Amino acid sequence: MAIKSKDLISLQDLSLDEINQILTNAKSMKEIIQRDIKKVPTLRGKAIVNLFYENSTRTRSSFELAGKYMGADVINITASASSVVKGESLWDTGKTINSMGVDVVVIRHPSSGAPYILGQAVEARVINAGDGTHEHPTQGLLDIFTVLDYKGALQGKKVAIIGDILHSRVARSDIIGFNALGADCWVCGPPTLLPAKVNELGVKVTWNIEEALTDADVVIMLRIQLERQKKGAFPSIREYAKLYGLNSKNLSLAKKDALVMHPGPINRGVEISADVADSLQSVINEQVQNGVAIRMALLYLMMGGGNVNVIA
Ligand code: CP
Repeated sequence: MAIKSKDLISLQDLSLDEINQILTNAKSMKEIIQRDIKKVPTLRGKAIVNLFYENSTRTRSSFELAGKYMGADVINITASASSVVKGESLWDTGKTINSMGVDVVVIRHPSSGAPYILGQAVEARVINAGDGTHEHPTQGLLDIFTVLDYKGALQGKKVAIIGDILHSRVARSDIIGFNALGADCWVCGPPTLLPAKVNELGVKVTWNIEEALTDADVVIMLRIQLERQKKGAFPSIREYAKLYGLNSKNLSLAKKDALVMHPGPINRGVEISADVADSLQSVINEQVQNGVAIRMALLYLMMGGGNVNVIA
């Protein structure tokens, strides 16, 4: 089996070799999605369920396209339109899906740990597509892939992750992934939006955006998650934007060729100004395309595939 762990709940479930194998395969997958006809039979006969208890544009559609480009059957279950609203538990929903002969279940859930519970309930392999404030491992992989595409290597590169670190599952997966590949990881945000013992995550910590941006090779801005904020984390959106928003002036502190990234969806004018989001340094749209390639590679490897150079 190409990936040993049955389920991908955290980036910590993958060895460095497995991460590198996914990244290598994603290069071939990216070549496929840039073709006129984006269809290969690699996963013909396999079945994937996208089980989403929370809204998503990028992750859900990219998993769906990833499966379909490789010939798998993919169905989407949205909790609000399923028997979940009649009171069915996650455990029973999992057992029900499993009975249909599914190979992989991709789950997004507002509660941290839900994908782990699902993994205990089903024989199918489970991929965490974002659970509460815990992790979003495929976002971490696609962020790494995007940086490697531009920079070639991560060793010693300053990666500044800025914003609401406390509620960010992306930050947690990015930190694990970028650290594993030798980057110099920084986190920056108001103290009320940094987790307790954040320095134990193996990152440098600052409350000052200028310090985080100075000489950065990569700037990852995080969305202010209004839906997860408790009252009082910061006085106002306006003040947050002034103190922690990325704009062309403070971006000039970073290296000239610094990449600007954001997992999306972005709040224009809050954590990132519109001109920076649309600038030549911004690789936000490339992140989305790379998300399909990474998810193709992961699905392929989780369903038993080995290394590919080119898939016919
Ligand atoms: N980056 C990300 O998870 O986006 P979606 O919420 O649109 O899937």
